[in-house]
Amino acid sequence: MSDAGRSQREPIGVIGTGYVGLVTAAGFAELGSRVFCVDIDAEKVGRLRAGEPTIYEPGLQELLARNAERISFSTEPGEALEHARLLFVAVGTPPTYSGDADLSAVHAVADAIPPASDRALVMKSTVPCGTGATLLRSFSEQGKAALAYVSCPEFLKEGSAVEDFMNPDRVVIGDEGGWAGDAVQELYAPLRSTVVRTDIASSEMVKLASNAFLATKISFINEIANVCEETGADVVEVARGMGLDERIGPKFLQAGIGFGGSCFPKDVDALKQLAGNTGYHFQLLTSVIEVNELQKRRVINKLQRHLGTLAGRRVALLGLAFKPNTDDMREASSLVLTARLLADGASVSAYDPVAEDRARELMAGLSFAPSPLEALQGADAAVLVTEWQELCELDWPAVAQAMAGDLLIDGRNALDPEAVRDAGLRYEGIGRR
Ligand code: UDX
Repeated sequence: MSDAGRSQREPIGVIGTGYVGLVTAAGFAELGSRVFCVDIDAEKVGRLRAGEPTIYEPGLQELLARNAERISFSTEPGEALEHARLLFVAVGTPPTYSGDADLSAVHAVADAIPPASDRALVMKSTVPCGTGATLLRSFSEQGKAALAYVSCPEFLKEGSAVEDFMNPDRVVIGDEGGWAGDAVQELYAPLRSTVVRTDIASSEMVKLASNAFLATKISFINEIANVCEETGADVVEVARGMGLDERIGPKFLQAGIGFGGSCFPKDVDALKQLAGNTGYHFQLLTSVIEVNELQKRRVINKLQRHLGTLAGRRVALLGLAFKPNTDDMREASSLVLTARLLADGASVSAYDPVAEDRARELMAGLSFAPSPLEALQGADAAVLVTEWQELCELDWPAVAQAMAGDLLIDGRNALDPEAVRDAGLRYEGIGRR
């Protein structure tokens, strides 16, 4: 984009500098906007100002550095409110005890906006369907009728969030008409993506339904994998055959030890609760959640089948993060796996290329190794939990030599069974022959 084009770009505010906020800020800065980031966490703001990474996300650090002169960070919303009409909200919406989303951080942002401001809140945080309508009602009650609201859900995947921002499958914009929806669409114009303009409630539902559908696809293929184990079919072959049907598609048909992360478990549950609050029992999602919980535990049965009792056994976990290319441990299958192994009296050693620090905070009783081979040293069995590239390309003869036993469970169906077996190891995948 030319310098002239960039300088005409709308300045924006971004409230909340977690995964979504930071990627959104860096992405819009790259497209030429001046971006005012706000976060209540002073330590985080200090680190971001110093150019220190606060999360691990490929390409993000470079993008922030390249656009440093266009992005500022503050604990106060003053500058953002002064210079930006569009305030992107990317704060946390964690589940409450009831399973509903906790919207207190979202309300705090709205409360901080002075009356009569002709600004717009652009909601990136995942919120229940109906949140926009509730907020708009509260704006008018608080004398903030000039404040507009736009729902613009994010579809960023951790590990490829920057790439996803720059090449979105679609941009969804839900609004009530007026200037703000058009201004958001204009911001995204250089990305030349398909834009879906709709009402606020539908936009909110697109996000929840998309995540719930993808989670359903995973639980579905996991159940097919479990049936494959009983029938002699191979789920990798089955998924390949299914995925070529254009109506099904090949993505999200990778069977494994369950989905985790900051979005799927939370959003699936939130949609189930949302439906429940209206009196509708979302039966399918109830099963999707249950299948996922059981899937995390199936590895334990596999280990028991091969090793007998797990008491006194040593199990090595390869990878801990909920998926590769992230240090995110939220709802990672490794958490359940470790807790179950320790409860059964096994000793657990683990290696993850980047998630160790986060894992240490969450998992006691686990020994962390600085390399895969050190984690595997003396292990009776190993489980590939996260399919990091480096863990898929291990020197299998060296692995066989380091281990005391010979069982390798491929929890992500990411390894070449032949290569593993040629090294003298016993290979077992999920639903694989
Ligand atoms: C997801 C959505 O993809 C994204 O659009 C949304 O904005 C946020 O939630 P993310 O949580 O980063 O993104 O991860 P994703 O790559 O979707 O994977 C989620 C989980 O599903 C991981 O634990 C992954 O291992 C698992 N998964 C994914 C499978 O088990 N099988 C698959 O085929 C795909």
